[in-house]
This record gives sequence, structure tokens and C-alpha cells, in this order.
Amino acid sequence: MRNRHVTTKRFEGRVALITGAASGIGRATALRFADEGAAVAVVDRDAVGAERTAAEIATAGGHAAGFECDVSTSERVTALVAEVERALAPIDVLANVAGIGDTAGREGIEGIDDARWSLVLAVNLNGPFYLCRAVLPGMAARGHGAVVNVSSLAGRSKSANGGLAYTASKAGLLGLTRHLAFDYGQRGVRVNAICPGGVDTPMLRAGGPSAAESEADAQERRRRVAAYGWFMPIKRISAPDEQAAAIAFLASDDASYINGVSLDVNGGLYMA
Ligand SMILES: NC(=O)c1ccc[n+]([C@@H]2O[C@H](COP(=O)([O-])OP(=O)(O)OC[C@H]3O[C@@H](n4cnc5c(N)ncnc54)[C@H](O)[C@@H]3O)[C@@H](O)[C@H]2O)c1
Repeated sequence: MRNRHVTTKRFEGRVALITGAASGIGRATALRFADEGAAVAVVDRDAVGAERTAAEIATAGGHAAGFECDVSTSERVTALVAEVERALAPIDVLANVAGIGDTAGREGIEGIDDARWSLVLAVNLNGPFYLCRAVLPGMAARGHGAVVNVSSLAGRSKSANGGLAYTASKAGLLGLTRHLAFDYGQRGVRVNAICPGGVDTPMLRAGGPSAAESEADAQERRRRVAAYGWFMPIKRISAPDEQAAAIAFLASDDASYINGVSLDVNGGLYMA
């Protein structure tokens, strides 16, 4: 039985910037941080979705503001961080959740053109780099802060559903995490990552049978989902709030001695 009841207020008086917060894991993370007392900057390229999450938080009695931002755009990210700090206060927590899936190149490297490769790397790796570069100096100057990057099982192993570019982007994100954890640990800032397995979100559903383009494609997707389920020690995929709980833990003072880790939140898939 899962325990969804949150009893702690670990982020009271703190500001959390969450990217990808219009949907899926990012939305669940924004709700979780707000529930635990944070003022939340709800960031997404989907402005309407960001406002929707911020409104949900406000309705529940929390504090949030929505911000439109494409994280793959360096100048926009720099401006965003200044906007968030003006609207809320200096940022204590950064969660890089925004990301795009990718099925191009599933059959091999020849299937990936330059534009596709660059787009996946731009969102999934450059985005967190731009955000970290804009936020970390301020955290270090204040002597405290926490960053959590959302990588993937793909970053540790290879993508179950997606392509080569996705795997490379998520592996790169783990390298960024470790290097920043080393550089900033001595300045009071911790940088960690989570590696989700399958999570029930629009991104996962887009790679599933319901999004197939032909019957053969649907069959192949069904086989892959069944194989995935067969190997999972916990016989279900994760709910977004289970990922949010891990992000909140790593960002909280409960994890004050945890730095540079890649936490697998995958139901024990590695034991399969
Ligand atoms: N769902 C899974 O099974 C799974 C597994 C492992 C890792 N992940 C990772 O978790 C993260 C969240 O994925 P999700 O499943 O919640 O997907 P999702 O599609 O539900 O949400 C992703 C959000 O990111 C936003 N986004 C995409 N590109 C952006 C950009 N350039 N700038 C700003 N926002 C952008 C989208 O608008 C969307 O709101 C991603 O980084 C993904 O790679 C997901």
C-alpha cells in the first residue's frame, strides 16, 4: 500500500524552481514542493499548462507562479532566473525535470538526422546546463542550495522505449550532475539526480501501443511493454508522485550528506 500522505514541511520559506511543471513528473513535483511549504516557480514551455499547475497549487492554499520558458534557449533561461528571483525570492531548489522523449533511431544510428539529435540534446542536456549555470552561483554565494536533475534508466543503461539520442542525453546529464556536485559541494550546494524507470505520464503513453502508427507497430510496442512488465520486481510502472517524493527527499535537508548520486527510482528493475 502506498502512503501518499505528506506530513512534513521541509521547504517552508524556500523557493523551488521546477521545470517541465505543466505535466507528468514536473507537475507532481511542483505540487509536492508546494505541499511541503515552498514557493514554487512553475516553469514550462507550455505557458497555459504552467499557469494551470500554479492555479492548482493556489487553490490548494499554496504559493506558486507560472513562467513560460523553453529551457533549450540560453538567453531565455538567464532572463527566467532573474524573473523568478524578482517575483518570489532567491532560488533554494532547482529541479530540472523538463525533457522530451525520442523514438527516432530506435532501429539504429542511421535513423537520426542532425536536427533530431540536436533537439534532444538541446532540451535534455543543454537545458539543465543553462539552468544550473544561471542558478548555482547565487546558491553558492548564499552558502546553500540543492539541485535535482531528472535523468532516466536510459542514462544508467539504455532507453527501453526510446532512441540513441535520448540515452546519450540522459547519460550526459548524469556526468553534469557528478561534476557539479564535486565543484559545488564545498560551497554548500548539493547536486543529485534521479533515474526513473517507467512512469505513467503523457511521455510514456506517447511511446506506448495507443500511439502506434500501424498494427505492426502496435504489436511491437505491446511486446515491449509486456517484456518490461515481466522483468519488473514491482509489477507496475511508477506514478509521477513517487518520482516527486524522491526529488523532494534529495532536495531536502534530510539528504544533507547526499551529493553526486544517481538515485534509481525504478521499482528494483536492476534486480531483474
Ligand atoms: N515517463 C517516464 O517513463 C520517464 C522515465 C524516465 C525519465 N523520464 C524523464 O522525466 C522527465 C519528465 O517527463 P514526463 O514523463 O513527466 O513527461 P511529460 O511529457 O509528461 O512532461 C514533460 C514536460 O516538459 C515540458 N517541456 C518539454 N520540452 C521543454 C522545453 N524545451 N522547455 C520547457 N519545458 C519543456 C513539456 O511541455 C511537459 O510539460 C523528462 O526529463 C523525462 O525524460 C520520464
